[in-house]
Amino acid sequence: MNPFRIEAIQPGQPFCDRLDELARLLGHAESFQNVMLSSPRRYGKTSLALRVQDELRKDGWGCMRVDFFGVDSVEDVARRIGRGLIQALDARESLLGKGKRFLRGLTAFRPVFSLEESGPSVSVQRIPETLRPADLLANTLDDLAGVVKTAGFKLHVVFDEFQEITRLGDSGQIEGIMRAAIQGQDAAYLFLGSRRGVLRAMFNERKRPLFQSALPMALGPLPAPDAAAFLVEQFAKGGKRIATDDATALCAMVECYPYYVQRLAAEVFQMSAKQVTADDLRAGLRAVIGAERYGYQAVLSGLTPRQTKILRTIARTPPTELQGAAFVAHAGAPASSIAQTAKKLLEEDIIEKPETAPWRVVDPVFAQWLREM
Ligand SMILES: Nc1ncnc2c1ncn2[C@@H]1O[C@H](COP(=O)(O)OP(=O)(O)OP(=O)(O)O)[C@@H](O)[C@H]1O
Ligand SMILES: [Mg+2]
Repeated sequence: MNPFRIEAIQPGQPFCDRLDELARLLGHAESFQNVMLSSPRRYGKTSLALRVQDELRKDGWGCMRVDFFGVDSVEDVARRIGRGLIQALDARESLLGKGKRFLRGLTAFRPVFSLEESGPSVSVQRIPETLRPADLLANTLDDLAGVVKTAGFKLHVVFDEFQEITRLGDSGQIEGIMRAAIQGQDAAYLFLGSRRGVLRAMFNERKRPLFQSALPMALGPLPAPDAAAFLVEQFAKGGKRIATDDATALCAMVECYPYYVQRLAAEVFQMSAKQVTADDLRAGLRAVIGAERYGYQAVLSGLTPRQTKILRTIARTPPTELQGAAFVAHAGAPASSIAQTAKKLLEEDIIEKPETAPWRVVDPVFAQWLREM
């Protein structure tokens, strides 16, 4: 069986490193310190949050997780939180059993129990009352606060892809309602997000409601030696061998980007004989680029020709300054418009400017594809 996984990794499954981050996140939860954890896409935020909650659950915490990806309205924000709360309560102590005591306090959503083929399941239904969506959200968060007060256990809340609420027109209002609800609670919130600039702005800008309400933390690429050791071990588990040098080379090819380490390793595992060779690595990378191209094309189709041109220019000749003469000449756009054109690329976290290095495309394999097209 192929030992490499590209979906979020469940606790108990092989996971590389992140022990430090795990310990820090657990420590912050214990002291009810809210945290904002940002990283590029597919760096392992969700996998790490699942591990945090798995540990906390063993210590008796109630844990809820809400994913805001694709959220379409304030009502939808409320519904997702309501559902997260009810499912968390039901998992902690059955809402048909001991947890029944919570039902009285709910004012926004109530559970609906059903028997599916896969077993009993709980979904939610709005408690009928005509409310403005903002009030529904406020009530939902009041319900959450009420649970925190009376539960008798600690509550850990993960808000995943939290920056997605800024795509809604009334994001400022939502942030305001959330700030009021979460402050001073005996609960720990972990905000996760991948459009880093957008997420950080929510917590770092003085005029935003959530200003300084969570401690910023960033997840970096995997440490190279740990990632290589992880690969050696996983290949062995799957009954194949990879030399440490080749494992190191594999990680370097994808700049230790967590998802691509697994993605490329899965491909190499698939195509190699008992012993991995350098040719397998090259062929594996070709296969990954080929398979991922639809995703890359989708990114480009969301960009204007000017944005595409800037992106490709950054991939080919990483500039230290976007306004510099050399870059302006390469990009073929007036210096005055480059910042504006690049704004969207920054917001979507497609490009970045590390403090001590030139501008770059965040996704190293996407960058490679752009260089080759
Ligand atoms: N510590 C790790 N060890 C091994 N693989 C990892 C690790 N972290 C992430 N990965 C790989 O990255 C993939 C993405 O992980 P995950 O979904 O948790 O990331 P994410 O940051 O939440 O991504 P998204 O931005 O898509 O929500 C995993 O399926 C796995 O292949
Ligand atoms: Mg995720």
